[in-house]
Amino acid sequence: MTVIGTGYLGATHAICMAVLGFEVLGVDVDPAKVARLAAGEVPFFEPGLPELLRKALDSGRLRFTTDFAEAGEFGDVHFLCVGTPQAPGSDAADLTYVRAATTALARNLRRRALVVGKSTVPVGTAAELTELVQRTAPAGTAVELAWNPEFLREGFAVDDTMNPDRLVFGVSPEWAEQRLRACFAPVVDDHGTPVLVVDLPTAELVKVAANSFLATKISYINAMAEVCERTGADVTKLAEALAHDSRIGGRFLKPGLGFGGGCLPKDIRAFKARAEELGVGQAVAFLHEIDAINKRRRARTVDLVREVAGGDLRGVRVAAWGAAFKPDSDDIRDAPALDVAVLLQEAGALVTVYDPEAMVNARRSYPQLAYADSALEAARDADVVVLLTEWRQFREVDPEVLGEVVAHRRVVDGRHALDRTAWRAAGWEHRALGRP
Ligand code: UDX
Repeated sequence: MTVIGTGYLGATHAICMAVLGFEVLGVDVDPAKVARLAAGEVPFFEPGLPELLRKALDSGRLRFTTDFAEAGEFGDVHFLCVGTPQAPGSDAADLTYVRAATTALARNLRRRALVVGKSTVPVGTAAELTELVQRTAPAGTAVELAWNPEFLREGFAVDDTMNPDRLVFGVSPEWAEQRLRACFAPVVDDHGTPVLVVDLPTAELVKVAANSFLATKISYINAMAEVCERTGADVTKLAEALAHDSRIGGRFLKPGLGFGGGCLPKDIRAFKARAEELGVGQAVAFLHEIDAINKRRRARTVDLVREVAGGDLRGVRVAAWGAAFKPDSDDIRDAPALDVAVLLQEAGALVTVYDPEAMVNARRSYPQLAYADSALEAARDADVVVLLTEWRQFREVDPEVLGEVVAHRRVVDGRHALDRTAWRAAGWEHRALGRP
């Protein structure tokens, strides 16, 4: 099989499939990325993946190339894993990369093959690509297209790939289903993973519906946090009480700074944009509010830091702990942490950022911010420490030790991640959104 696009999704898929025993060719237009992967280096932070890359390369079953002719020659099944970012100046998804990769591959398909889309796309894209592939490929209608949405979370990419909650196969002909069942047999046989065989539009929708639901759950509890702030209630206790209702459940019900990353924010926007195009915009109009609640968290976190600092941020030294959009990732796409750091700086604060893994990416994209080499260094002489990404090393900091280096023992816990009792016992003023 080939895997077209070797970002988070594609690299993980290619590596895991090779480890599971398939012959895999990873394809990317970026020669630097291909060279790093071929040399055994994962170009992003993902726990457990470097070890598996080594294993896959040593097995001789995994190679990488930039050559689509080689890919067409090599593969019986081709997985499309290129990105679908938010289009500039619009809420819609940018399908440039999907169309370009599909065209480049199709030109080189000279025998019966299956192309499997894994990228998150607006509903209707698979039908468009089927037509594109069959029109472009020398093998014509002998090439078929299926959709197999990917649900992996960064930080858990290997586990989510090897042991997914479910597999969704969007297929029209039976042959495509058989091929996909063969591709995922090692996963299904090992774990008894449920397989849902559906049509193409359902497969496309499963992904955006799942991400919209997750975003809604997070914004729901953050909306409750706003009400708590006004009423003196405690959103962490509220969330805990809701979580005991098994119909609601506690996952993705963690209040705080809200969601970011390369998926949730852009997926809800693209879904709304696509629904409007289709004339069913009203059905998902609430996603606009979900996005707005989420954005307000960032502004409210800045307000809270201002309040703690005495009402004015000018000249206030702030230690910003975290840059990645979530812990165990170096991904800073739409990262709430960096948004807050920038807003603080714009309000006149002297901000120093530290993140365990995302420093290179953060420095590159936000050169205007100051950076420190450790959490303690960032906090030296700080007037306020603000926790923005709940890395374990921040959660486990000893407030006594930290108290020795700061100017004032004041902490804003943007992720409800610190043990408030312990911090208060160590003389800290501890504040968090939605908690009295
Ligand atoms: C998400 C989906 O979970 C995954 O299934 C999909 O394939 C891709 O998008 P990912 O972007 O890796 O995965 O991150 P996820 O773990 O879902 O977290 C998203 C954001 O929500 C993070 O910024 C996180 O901090 C935030 N979050 C999550 C909360 O604020 N509260 C929660 O309770 C859970």
